[in-house]
Amino acid sequence: MPDPKAGVGQIVAAIHAASVNPIDWKTRAGMRGDASALPMILGCEFSGVVSETGPGVSEFAPGDSVFGVAPQTGDGTYAEAIAIDAGLVALRPDSLGHVEAAALGLVGLTALVSLEDTAKIKAGETILIQGGAGGVGGFAVQCAKHAGATVYATTSTRNVDYVRRLGADSVIDYTTDDFTKAVPPCDVVFDTVGGAVQERSFSVLKPGGRLVWIAGGSEGGPPLPAHVEMIRPRVDRHRRHMERITELVGLGAVTAPEITTFPLAQVARAHEMSATGHVRGKIVLLVR
Ligand SMILES: NC(=O)c1ccc[n+]([C@@H]2O[C@H](COP(=O)([O-])OP(=O)(O)OC[C@H]3O[C@@H](n4cnc5c(N)ncnc54)[C@H](OP(=O)(O)O)[C@@H]3O)[C@@H](O)[C@H]2O)c1
Repeated sequence: MPDPKAGVGQIVAAIHAASVNPIDWKTRAGMRGDASALPMILGCEFSGVVSETGPGVSEFAPGDSVFGVAPQTGDGTYAEAIAIDAGLVALRPDSLGHVEAAALGLVGLTALVSLEDTAKIKAGETILIQGGAGGVGGFAVQCAKHAGATVYATTSTRNVDYVRRLGADSVIDYTTDDFTKAVPPCDVVFDTVGGAVQERSFSVLKPGGRLVWIAGGSEGGPPLPAHVEMIRPRVDRHRRHMERITELVGLGAVTAPEITTFPLAQVARAHEMSATGHVRGKIVLLVR
């Protein structure tokens, strides 16, 4: 591929690390309904170093370390370089290396939009996070705890200690326990798993409770009970969320997840791992 050039309002970043999200292999497999966009460069998140700034960009200079989230359309971050709008990147937190920063962009943004902007989680509320060991779920556990909520989270046996270390007050092993019996009435459920897990989540919500979801429900499931609200967050991508991630990292409220790395050339293996649906933390591709 030719080297990208910075357009108006853009930077070019030399990518050091890019992370893998389920949407990557779903897109590759034609499951997003926009297969006409293929072939394309996959990848949503990266951490790297600014190599060029375009006209109108004053907030970054060549040599700055940045992390960011690529736009939903167009080429992504499984690459040595990307031209990207400056509004989609932020300075990399000092305390994080490129691998850790690459693992926080999209999952952090998704969790923040879901919990802070959409659920508006408050101190004293009770939340159940479905999928506490995953990329989004792991960030959400830390974010909800920081907000002062009492945090319940589900995961499988091998990840119970990991999710507890992230800060969950109570971890439900879904292979041995039924969350509908193990959690008290909740103000919020954040569902990152979907399907039957989502349907069964209604029963743990208090009247007026909010179910915020990012993974699909099951087809033909039961109707939404009258006593709860179900909200799919609108996850826009913007620097303010990257800066909020940096703020939370600086406060010590959020740490990088457990990370499994692969060289970029082994992305096929990374996709196989992501497609199991049982990743703990994040998968990061090492680009340089
Ligand atoms: N990544 C993003 O930023 C993003 C943005 C928007 C939407 N989404 C969607 O949100 C979903 C989750 O994304 P992700 O990136 O967090 O996925 P991920 O990193 O692959 O994590 C999936 C997690 O789900 C857990 N899990 C699987 N079955 C479960 C069950 N029955 N109960 C509780 N936990 C269960 C797994 O833990 P165990 O191994 O312990 O089962 C695993 O840790 C995907 O459908 C994705 O497409 C993701």
